[in-house]
Amino acid sequence: MFWTARGGVAGWSSICGTIPPAQAVIGMVAEPDDAMELVNELMGWFRQHPFPEYQPGEMQVPSVVSDSSLCHVQVTNWAHETGFESGSSERGERCAGASADVARYTAKILNDYADGVFEITHEPDEVVGECMACHSELTRGKENCTTCHKPPIEPTDIHDDFY
Ligand code: HEC
Ligand code: HEC
Repeated sequence: MFWTARGGVAGWSSICGTIPPAQAVIGMVAEPDDAMELVNELMGWFRQHPFPEYQPGEMQVPSVVSDSSLCHVQVTNWAHETGFESGSSERGERCAGASADVARYTAKILNDYADGVFEITHEPDEVVGECMACHSELTRGKENCTTCHKPPIEPTDIHDDFY
């Protein structure tokens, strides 16, 4: 069902393909409001997780935190940090491990939910609230704004405090 999620949805490098199947599984078993909290927690965890953690095979690759739910940002940051190319088998190993990490964390929060002990433990970056205090009319989201918007942002005088 989710084969086409690979490569950030059919190779578009959009949302990481590990996330939609996790959403579906959560949505199958949790009430809508609870599912929203569980998926929100998954997203908050995802941006801070060093992928890949699960590496059962012989090939061991470095783990990197990318602070983004986007395939493009995840893979590119990882490639920059490690020196492996996007098309390498090491990158394939990385994303296989990432799939396992997301499956495992999804199972963990669903088990916590079933046991009535689920808690939100991961949040968006603090800078999001600071940016959104002014920008919520024109934009939306909880991704870390400064992973994409780097200085100089015009008008620089308004944004000097943040960078
Ligand atoms: C004190 C209010 C304020 C805060 C806080 C703020 N901005 Fe802005 N920002 C503005 C205003 C005003 C403009 C110019 C008018 C507009 O484009 O809306 C602007 C413009 C921008 C633009 C468009 C620049 C362009 O060239 O069109 C971006 C992107 C932006 N801000 C990102 C951010 C990010 C990221 C943060 C948090 C790190 C942030 N802003 C925090 C007020 C703010
Ligand atoms: C994944 C990258 C990415 C992230 C994360 C991101 N943005 Fe953007 N943002 C863009 C792109 C691409 C555009 C459109 C091109 C441009 O105007 O720079 C844009 C445009 C904007 C604009 C200008 C809109 C306009 O009217 O011209 C503002 C303001 C803005 N973003 C604020 C934010 C804030 C606040 C956050 C954090 C909640 C954020 N962005 C997170 C990529 C991103």
